Amino acid sequence: MKTKILTSSRVSAFAKLNRLLSGVSYRDAQKFIIVDANTYENCIPLLISRVEALEGASFFEVPVGEEAKSIEVAGQLWQALLESGADRDSVIVNLGGGTVCDIGGFVAAGFKRGIRYINVPTTLLAMVDAAIGGKTAVNLNGVKNQVGFFHSPQSVCICPDFLETLPDEELVSGLFEMFKTLALSDKDMYKSLSDTIVSDADLDMDTLKLFIEHCAGFKTSVVDSDPTEKSVRKILNFGHTFGHGIESYSSEIGKPLSHGIAIGVGMACELYLSHKKLGISREVLEDYCKILTHLVGIPKYKLRDAEKILSYMRADKKNRDGLILCVLLRDFAEPVIDVPIDENEVRDALLQIAKF
Ligand SMILES: NC(=O)c1ccc[n+]([C@@H]2O[C@H](COP(=O)([O-])OP(=O)(O)OC[C@H]3O[C@@H](n4cnc5c(N)ncnc54)[C@H](O)[C@@H]3O)[C@@H](O)[C@H]2O)c1
Ligand SMILES: [Zn+2]
Repeated sequence: MKTKILTSSRVSAFAKLNRLLSGVSYRDAQKFIIVDANTYENCIPLLISRVEALEGASFFEVPVGEEAKSIEVAGQLWQALLESGADRDSVIVNLGGGTVCDIGGFVAAGFKRGIRYINVPTTLLAMVDAAIGGKTAVNLNGVKNQVGFFHSPQSVCICPDFLETLPDEELVSGLFEMFKTLALSDKDMYKSLSDTIVSDADLDMDTLKLFIEHCAGFKTSVVDSDPTEKSVRKILNFGHTFGHGIESYSSEIGKPLSHGIAIGVGMACELYLSHKKLGISREVLEDYCKILTHLVGIPKYKLRDAEKILSYMRADKKNRDGLILCVLLRDFAEPVIDVPIDENEVRDALLQIAKF
């Protein structure tokens, strides 16, 4: 099933969502909105005031952040749905960042073997990435996304107005997933965003909206051509082989990095290996490290950090036959999937990035 992406063009994304939910296939469906405490406070008033069809919907609140993505929270939500009389025609609306979209999608995928859901992303990261594509998951034993389903949302309603209340750190997190998508798709847009960031120029809302639409559109087209990640969809994992290891390790040591920032660091490692193994120019790597330094700084990993990150990377879902596989770039918009890397290359990349 192809997901419909609702953005604001002539008609606002909210108006489109309202029309959809008032239509014959949703009018009589029970509606459940999943939020976390922050989106309940900051985003519900806007959503409910603009989408009348959601008046009277039931709310379920999940913990903020990665804690929401657990099998225990999923169990509580399934129980709550049952107690509220949800049936196979019910619809879940996920109002939040990637964590709310991931757990809400997971719950929708499992409930009565799959019910409909709609994502209303409220973080930049979710607007350009997490809300789109139908990958749903929970974490297990501290390892990210170990249990999940492919189950596509019926629609994704992208409304950048929600970003007004998003903390700066979360905007930065989303910027890294945007850089990832632009590196995969459009060198000129990548350079333009990079220049804006590194020169501290203002990123005005209209320009940001154009970037969001480009990234959401690119992800949608990739996912539509390979919904279950057998081939081309794998390119979207650029930065993520290292990034997931870095993200899990940062939580283990009690200094959790947000998903996007961990991916930002992972991209530096993978660009380093792209330079070493596939010959992407050193300038691309250096310029990217300037962006990373500017936005968050580059971690100075020691060998013992690298060993821990490596141990998480050995558990990565993308590995085959004991090999760690990465997406590397030959150049902008020229990704190469399934590049095997050995453990010394992992250590080397983690230790070297601080030198750029
Ligand atoms: N399924 C996918 O394809 C996919 C892709 C990328 C990332 N992800 C997942 O997404 C998650 C990260 O998503 P995220 O970065 O959006 O994190 P998040 O959902 O934890 O949101 C970040 C923080 O911002 C708050 N927040 C959200 N919207 C707000 C708003 N408008 N105003 C104020 N506060 C707001 C949240 O409560 C939270 O504290 C990770 O678990 C990652 O694995 C999934
Ligand atoms: Zn990601």
